[in-house]
Amino acid sequence: MAPGLRSVDPLTADGQGVSRGGAAPPATRMKRTRIKQALGSAEPQETVRVQGWVRTRRDAKGVSFLELNDGSCLGNLQVVVDAALAAAAELAAFTTGSAAEVEGRLVASPAAGQAWELQATRLELIGPADATYPLQKKGHSLEFLRTIAHLRPRSNLFGAVFRTRSRLAQAVHQFFQERDFFYIHTPIISTSDCEGAGEMFRVTTLKGDLDGAAQADFFGRPAYLTVSGQLEAETFACTLSNVYTFGPTFRAENSNTARHAAEFWMIEPEMAFCDLTEDIDLAEAFVRAMARFTLDHCTEDLRFFGKFVDRGVEDRLRFVVDRPFERIPYAEAIRILEESGRSFEYPVQAGHNLQSEHERYLTEEHCRRPVTVFNYPREIKPFYMRRNDDGATVAAMDILVPGIGEVIGGSQREERLGPLREALAFHELREEDYWWYLDLRRFGSVPHAGFGLGFERLLMFLTGVANIRDVIPFARTPGSADF
Ligand code: 4AD
Ligand code: MG
Repeated sequence: MAPGLRSVDPLTADGQGVSRGGAAPPATRMKRTRIKQALGSAEPQETVRVQGWVRTRRDAKGVSFLELNDGSCLGNLQVVVDAALAAAAELAAFTTGSAAEVEGRLVASPAAGQAWELQATRLELIGPADATYPLQKKGHSLEFLRTIAHLRPRSNLFGAVFRTRSRLAQAVHQFFQERDFFYIHTPIISTSDCEGAGEMFRVTTLKGDLDGAAQADFFGRPAYLTVSGQLEAETFACTLSNVYTFGPTFRAENSNTARHAAEFWMIEPEMAFCDLTEDIDLAEAFVRAMARFTLDHCTEDLRFFGKFVDRGVEDRLRFVVDRPFERIPYAEAIRILEESGRSFEYPVQAGHNLQSEHERYLTEEHCRRPVTVFNYPREIKPFYMRRNDDGATVAAMDILVPGIGEVIGGSQREERLGPLREALAFHELREEDYWWYLDLRRFGSVPHAGFGLGFERLLMFLTGVANIRDVIPFARTPGSADF
């Protein structure tokens, strides 16, 4: 860069930058203060400039009050506008939903519940919003807000959810990076059905007959959106030792429940030289660390969830941080359910998958804490799980948490070539489709294990938000992919 020129970050531009060429340099602008900083100020300030969206306006005699929010935190900054500054007719344009810029003095607020307010000295309407703006002050149902997914982030609840989501995403990386795990970007387009459940979305450029003409398709064979990055993560674990993926996964599961989405984000660590017990140790530590992080770093938003979403959320997080999880073998879980005296909608059947109601009974009522169920029957689990010595079960584990049920599914992987080939045959899968996966067992194979945590389910658990559609920015569920 030429001497005398400075680069300007448009987000924090202080107007001191000099632009090249014939255009006039930008007028000097005072640096923008985010409302979070203003509300957390240690002292009064002579002039600050804030920008945000008007949540409400209240007009009193000789003075008006604007509640301004810029998303940096839950709280609004109260802007006090003297009638001398703006005529009533001008002020009327500062409606709920409009965007505004305000300069003024940050002074101690006489009002309860806020330390500071802004005495406006300059007021500018940046973007008007007319009376059809759908987010008026009255409370809206979550169902209604889903129909305006493009505007719902402007509500208090969704602001809190998506700030928390962002912070937790960063906390996920921190958790693994601190433990020397490497982040692997596994592919989104895949040709293997890792979970073997046949719930994949086809990716194709073909028109008409898909199956007859697979060789003519873009990839020369049928391809799908991935249901899991695990198989690819295993290849990297078998050299970098500890890796994880964190990306979108897709399931064409036609279940219209509060905890299933067709597109969701999954975190999948994979560890070489690791058995099922060590896998469970890490998974439990991970859930506990995320609860700890939420308590420590999402305090204001968490308090909001406790007030408006789920009164018990904060206690539940403390409980998870403080106490060990219960660990019970699948056979024992079945015995507990059979002896519970409960009449479940789906009867408890040994050898079958646990239903959500069974999972919730175990964690919410029987154990009253998160529960890790392990050693499931081999028939109901995917091909890649390591067969136990009893021949009937595999080294699988699921972590169940109150309010959600399964939040994590994982296993020790079958690292022995012979038993893996048997497992492929048992699940009626073709060896030629898994040749590269089998190769991992031919060259320097080691015991290894991992798990997958559904990020949205974790968020539901940590915020108390009861529907998966409300913790993902734009939900994709059967029959619905708007926005
Ligand atoms: O139990 P799942 O199917 O396990 C796997 O995919 C393994 N390959 C993971 C591994 O070992 N690396 O899915 C893992 C987690 C579930 O426990 C759940 O939290 C979440 O992913 N999940 C879903 N979340 C939202 N919507 C869906 N349709 C989900 N299906 C699974
Ligand atoms: Mg599972």
